[in-house]
Amino acid sequence: MFLEEIGRIAKIFKSLIKEKRVRIFSHLDADGICSASIISKTLIREGTNFELKILKQLTREEIKNLRIRESDFLVLTDFGSGQLDLLRDLLDRAQVLVIDHHESKAIEHLNLFHLNPLIFNEEEISSSMVSYLFAKSVDIKNADLIDLAIVGAVADEQDEKWEFRGLAKRILEEAETIGKIVVTKGLRLYGRITKPIHKTLEHSFDPIIPGISGSESNAVQFLSELGIAVREDDEWKRLKDLTLEEQKTLASAIIIERLRSKHSDAEDIFGDIYTISGRPEELQDAREFATFLNACGRFGKADIGIRICLGDLEAVSDALCVLEEYRKLIGEIINWIRENEAILTKDFGVYLFGKNFIPETLIGTITSILLNSNLIDTNKPIFGFAETDSGEVKVSARVSRDFKLINLGKIVSDASRQVEGEGGGHVSSAGALIPKGKEDKFVQAIEDMLGETFGKRER
Ligand code: C5P
Repeated sequence: MFLEEIGRIAKIFKSLIKEKRVRIFSHLDADGICSASIISKTLIREGTNFELKILKQLTREEIKNLRIRESDFLVLTDFGSGQLDLLRDLLDRAQVLVIDHHESKAIEHLNLFHLNPLIFNEEEISSSMVSYLFAKSVDIKNADLIDLAIVGAVADEQDEKWEFRGLAKRILEEAETIGKIVVTKGLRLYGRITKPIHKTLEHSFDPIIPGISGSESNAVQFLSELGIAVREDDEWKRLKDLTLEEQKTLASAIIIERLRSKHSDAEDIFGDIYTISGRPEELQDAREFATFLNACGRFGKADIGIRICLGDLEAVSDALCVLEEYRKLIGEIINWIRENEAILTKDFGVYLFGKNFIPETLIGTITSILLNSNLIDTNKPIFGFAETDSGEVKVSARVSRDFKLINLGKIVSDASRQVEGEGGGHVSSAGALIPKGKEDKFVQAIEDMLGETFGKRER
């Protein structure tokens, strides 16, 4: 049904775009940037002019400012499903295609074309993957955009423990068949191409390397004890530069460290590595490509992200600069959190008060990092707060995927409503915008809800 609907809407889209003013609006994270790039490339190939804007979120305010014309055809990617009730008036005046994978309100309208696997009772795939299936239905030559589908999906952590399942896995296999992606097994470590290896080890919290995660000096010593040089030809060595023998030595040593600290799944350190062909070296690892895009989006440089997706080679060096600044700022924020006791641990949740130090665009990334760190009790959900430029408070919530007993999207949505805010999201990742000054009430609402679920369980 879902695939049939994609085909049906693709046909309508092809004829409509010829006579309409096409405007794409997309979310600023890597999945949003990949989705927007796939749709943009599709339109370029169809010879259609269009406008593209990347937004932090599709809020009531943004929708009000759209200046809709009767001739508009809007494409919303990686948001829209959760905001359909805000789009009601707009739908009376213009046609809207929503390509999304967030929880949706059941709204039907003659002018609404809605592609979201969840409303067809399909398993979730990223917006980039839905965009890809759609683009391929518009024209089979768009099949070459499949690498962007994979990059958006890994960015949204759709491949739990670095392995895709279901429809997403079928898309990955298709990418392998057409030679766009090579899948290999490797260490589940981030930064294979762009980070010095000791930094990769220092920053690894899932899998955790006891005694080494979180400590640069221990990481360097660990490598030297294994006889793996951290520098070669005056350059830092990266995971990618290790010989097969060195990789095996490193993997065994990590497992031994994990066994020594009695990890139940000590050998669970491997996962699928996706290597993209036909892209510059820096973008060949799908996970690092995703990190580039996230950095660009969250730094207000989404245009650079779009350019690298569309194959503009000159944008790669700009993206490298953005990534460097991004990593530096993340480091500063983590230090600030440590020094300012910004974390409050309550009975059922962990709360991070970012005030106006943590940018609203980074609070989600920071809560995700904390959830994979030794800085908080990772057995509880975490809720981060950051003040926005418009005087509200952005909330980002994350919970470990092993924590299957709650639906964070629903909890955040209910708590937001109690404080006159708006929010929602997925089972293990959610967000909201709430009025400033309502943080305590929001925290209490969350504690009450979680208490109802877990209070009796003596957690
Ligand atoms: O912004 P953040 O990354 O924390 O958002 C996590 C999830 O919650 C995203 O999938 C986002 O779309 C959703 N969200 C939402 N409503 C908001 C903010 C975020 O549904 N106001």
